Order: sequence, then C-alpha cells, then structure tokens
Amino acid sequence: MEKILVATQKPFASEAIKKIKEITDREGYELSLLEKYSTAEELKTAVADAEALIVRSDKVTAEVIEAAKNLKIVVRAGAGYDNLDLDACSAKGIVAMNTPGQNSNAVAELAFGMMVYMARNKFNGTAGTELRGKTLGIHAYGNVGKYVAQIARGFGMEVFAFDPFVPAEKIKNDGITPVKTVEELYQTCQYVSLHIPANEQTKKSIKASLLELMPSGAVLVNTARKEVIDEESLALLMEKRTDFTYISDIAPDNKSLFEEKFSDRCFFTPKKMGAQTAEANINAGVAAANQIIKFFKTGDETYRVNK
Ligand code: 3PG
Repeated sequence: MEKILVATQKPFASEAIKKIKEITDREGYELSLLEKYSTAEELKTAVADAEALIVRSDKVTAEVIEAAKNLKIVVRAGAGYDNLDLDACSAKGIVAMNTPGQNSNAVAELAFGMMVYMARNKFNGTAGTELRGKTLGIHAYGNVGKYVAQIARGFGMEVFAFDPFVPAEKIKNDGITPVKTVEELYQTCQYVSLHIPANEQTKKSIKASLLELMPSGAVLVNTARKEVIDEESLALLMEKRTDFTYISDIAPDNKSLFEEKFSDRCFFTPKKMGAQTAEANINAGVAAANQIIKFFKTGDETYRVNK
C-alpha cells in the first residue's frame, strides 16, 4: 500500500484531514501525519518510506529529498512553491506540484481584513478612513489578485492591475483597468496589494524607488512573500514618508524595528495566516490528495511545476 505523508508544521484544520483520510481510505492508500514538527530531522525520518508527500510552507530541501528514498511526488497544498527545492526533485525524478487557486479566496479576504483594520486606526476608537472611492493596484493578476479585485469592486474601490503575463483584454473583461508598467500602477494607486511569487526575478524587487511613486496616504499590502520586499529600503522610505503604511501577513525579518519606529503605520499578523481557514485547508488538502492519486493511477501531471 503506497504511503502518503502529510507533513505540516502549521497543521491543516481537522476537517481537512478528515476529508483527505476519506479519500485515501477509499482509494486504498495509507495516510500518515506529521504535524507541528520542529526539526528537519523529524521530516526526514517521516518521509523516508513515503511514496507521496503533501506539505504547506514546509521546507522540502535537497536533504529532505535525499532522505525520501521512495518518494515519487510532492504536492505543495497551496500556491507558492518557493519552499520546494525543484532541482533536487527533478534530479531524483520526483514530480513536484502545487494546487493553484484552492486557497486564494482566504488570502484575498485577509488582505481586506487587514486593510479595514488599518483604515480604522487599529480599532482604537478614533476617526479612520473608508476604502470606498480609493484606488487599489493589484500587482500580479493571478488567482489571489483576481479575488482581491472582485472584493475591492464590492467595496467601491477603483481597481487597477499590472500583470505582464495576463492579456490586458482579460483584465478589462473583469471590470479592472489594466496598466502597462509597474511604475504606472504604483503612481496611480493609494493602496497596492502584492500577489507576485518569490523567485530570482522578484526577490527584493519591491523597493523604495518604486514605493516612493505612490500617492499620499500610501498603503502597501503584502499577502505574498516577505522575500519580495527590500526591507531595508522600505524602512528608510517609511522614515521619510510619514504617510506610508505597510501591512503584511508575513512579518519582515526586522519586525521589531518596524513596530518600534512605525507602530501606527504597520501591522503584521502574529503568524502567516492568509490560508488559515477551514475552507482553504479543505480545498488545498483535498486537491493535493486527489492530484497524487490521479498521478499514481493515470500518470496525470497537471499542475506539475518542475521539469
Ligand atoms: C500559499 O502560497 O498557498 C500561501 O502562502 C499559503 O501558505 P500556507 O499554506 O503555508 O499557509
């Protein structure tokens, strides 16, 4: 019986595990769980005899792959797969996949939860501001970006998007104004919501030279990855621009510096929690299990992300 290991430092909601187990039981696979582990050693031991692995942001390094002697497939239950060593997977002939779109709505809703919280001065009782009528720029119009745009329209915001990989016509059809350059997006929008992946092209690409283009009362919302931000230059900019707010679901490395210096102008969730809803966990976890079973049964490689 092939073994599917679910290894999550940040566990799925119990309803999601229940549904994954129903699938693996029905299809004749063994399900094994490693939750809230704290060392790579624990993951290496648990994965040693697994044929398939489901993870969230857990780091699947070359060492983990080396220890996984029977592994055929690893699925990142979520969108961003910057935590998987794709080269190590490819070198061992292991298929790596993600589950795009499955947790996107949860992430988009959190972006708005944080935006409202900050617009209302962290609910301290003083008069805040509204989102209605404000400009919002979506930086990368993928699965999360689309949900953010949809919700923003409900709030009555004026929505713009920049994505060189999505035809302008498609963006327009959703009632969103496409812009041609990233600079134009930041120049135009008081709020910018980031949805770019973390890769060699994007790491540290969000820096002061871009952010300083934003109009007065600028708010940067990051539910993507902290690695895309040039944190040093952002901190310098926030010293100069006392109207600039930074909101993130992924706290910067220098979180205490930001909180000390800009306490009223920054907010970070205690733990990355964009995808922390029962619905998102069920969607992503079940999709991962189904993708693995389809791969074993038919060789289907839809959603493969490595070569
Ligand atoms: C993703 O890339 O899917 C999100 O960032 C969610 O990540 P998580 O599963 O680690 O919460």
